[in-house]
Amino acid sequence: LNTHFPSRALEGLRLVITAGPTREAIDPVRFIGNHSSGKMGFALARAAIEAGATVTLVAGPVHLDTPERATRIDVESARDMLSACHSACHQADIFIACAAVADYRPVTVADHKLKKQGDSGLTIELTQNPDIVATISKEFPSLYTVGFAAETQHVLEHAREKRIRKQLDLIIANDVGNDAVFGQDHNSVIIIGSELELHLPEASKLDVARTCINELAKEYRRTH
Ligand code: CTP
Ligand code: CA
Repeated sequence: LNTHFPSRALEGLRLVITAGPTREAIDPVRFIGNHSSGKMGFALARAAIEAGATVTLVAGPVHLDTPERATRIDVESARDMLSACHSACHQADIFIACAAVADYRPVTVADHKLKKQGDSGLTIELTQNPDIVATISKEFPSLYTVGFAAETQHVLEHAREKRIRKQLDLIIANDVGNDAVFGQDHNSVIIIGSELELHLPEASKLDVARTCINELAKEYRRTH
């Protein structure tokens, strides 16, 4: 199990990792969701455990087995994910936000299944969800925070801007144009820090996760 991390780069550290999509209810039987599979977040959890970390995995609805020795907290909505992260981060050293959080949710959730009204369409009013990683980073200033940036264009530029805006130590950028990432087993990313820009070659999500964890550990140890 530990062949990839002979040095156990994260030994003694506590990580909280978000993974998967969130679901925002419209009514008791319908929701707004997205295609995130959770594979990258789960791979990061597994890699972090291999590296010696204690991991709490805050997972949206996904069809994946819990990595061995991870503590898993299942959530549905962005607001549930935020409160689970908030509780877990009191006892954490590093927070990795890998979830594809829904940016918007319906303003109201209908108590009963919506019925069609004649032949007309339907307008659902949406409101913005809280930004989980930005909120956690602000609330726990000494926590080492890592975000992801899913972009379809100007990947580096947008990712750098997000890292600064959300006050993150690192951001991991990936190009999600033309179905390259969602649900796939392979991924190629760029790790960006204040003095770091590391382009990783395309590899399986588990190998990418292992490299990310290794680089993250180096950066964390360099600054702590
Ligand atoms: N994120 C979050 N909470 C949200 C939205 C995003 O914690 N409500 C986190 C994601 O988990 C990811 C990072 O923020 O680590 C960037 O997510 P992304 O969707 O790329 O950025 P947004 O800030 O939502 O901007 P946009 O979708 O408009 O590009
Ligand atoms: Ca978003």
